[in-house]
Amino acid sequence: MADLRVQVGRTSLKNPVIAAPGEHLIEAAGIRSAILAGAGAVVGKSINESLAAKSQLRRAEYAALGPDWSQVPWGPAAPVGTTVLSRSGLPSVDFDAWLAQAVAMDAFARTHDCLFVPSIILAAEEPALDMALRIEAAGLRVLEFNIGTPYASEAAKGAVSTVLSPERVGTLTRMMTEALGIPVWIKITGQSERVPDLAAAAFAAGAESVVMAGRALGMLPDLETQAPVLSTSGGIGGFWNLPLTCHWLANSRAVLGAGRQLIGINGATSGHDVARMMLAGASAVGMASEVMLRGWDVLSRAVADLDTYCDTKSMAARDLIGRAADARKRFADMPELDERWRDHVPAPLASA
Ligand SMILES: Cc1cc2nc3c(=O)[nH]c(=O)nc-3n(C[C@H](O)[C@H](O)[C@H](O)COP(=O)(O)O)c2cc1C
Repeated sequence: MADLRVQVGRTSLKNPVIAAPGEHLIEAAGIRSAILAGAGAVVGKSINESLAAKSQLRRAEYAALGPDWSQVPWGPAAPVGTTVLSRSGLPSVDFDAWLAQAVAMDAFARTHDCLFVPSIILAAEEPALDMALRIEAAGLRVLEFNIGTPYASEAAKGAVSTVLSPERVGTLTRMMTEALGIPVWIKITGQSERVPDLAAAAFAAGAESVVMAGRALGMLPDLETQAPVLSTSGGIGGFWNLPLTCHWLANSRAVLGAGRQLIGINGATSGHDVARMMLAGASAVGMASEVMLRGWDVLSRAVADLDTYCDTKSMAARDLIGRAADARKRFADMPELDERWRDHVPAPLASA
């Protein structure tokens, strides 16, 4: 067994695999399943006060898209490299019931050396702060505050938020960190050229970790109906997003230094992907759509495969953090290799 324990701010996790929120983590049985599967932390499905966000969950649809972009059946038999397109929303449960479940999930998580993380998605500031204070008062150990969902431009006005300015990230983070004693993790958008600036603003305002980065919006035309799959644009992400997440992690580490703990998200589908995001600078890594698509053993296999990888390299998981990021060179640092491009073009047609 390799030493998989990692530190995120004040919080120690038994391993860096985080079950990230989605519909599979709405109900207690789903959350308990993720805990039993061995995740180091489980972030429950988010909540906010917006009726429009709740209505949106009742309008939600999900498509599993195979590597050639055709729709494939949902479930563990979906081909490797399946992409999830979705139009999600937030649960209709009232806040008291949601909080009571969160408290029970925290107690269950503690018996498995797991961290249960409640999550709020920003709609309006005052209700978000009020919910956060009640979360802390109920004894929960960490708050995740998502201010970067992909849906703000497509959803009903005020349902969710995609915060794009570092100043606003700072203001919203400070609103939470000045009022709370528990660690605050800020989940930011990836739909920005300024991901490292958004992360820097969150840390400067007292965040203990930044989760980077939320999914993008996409639209896929269906060749048969010639209309968009699911009829709308939607949140999109998949294995192909992993290098983009790693680039943001490495850039953020370059700006912030090694002392800030980042959480990688968007594109991890296996324990090897967890290792890749850690090498890019993540202290822990979230996995959502792959688990929602294929089931809980995605999490147990991720922990086992990370363990094997660390064993093979004779390293503790924490020693992976940032190694690739710190080895990254600039283009101009690379040697000239003459006409290497010739090995990467097709042979000309005989008649050319
Ligand atoms: C159907 C669905 C529902 C989601 N719901 C939430 C949510 O309630 N709160 C949240 O912070 N992120 C939510 N997410 C985003 C995921 O937690 C995660 O950030 C994103 O899917 C990228 O990670 P992945 O590549 O592992 O799926 C949701 C994602 C999907 C696909």
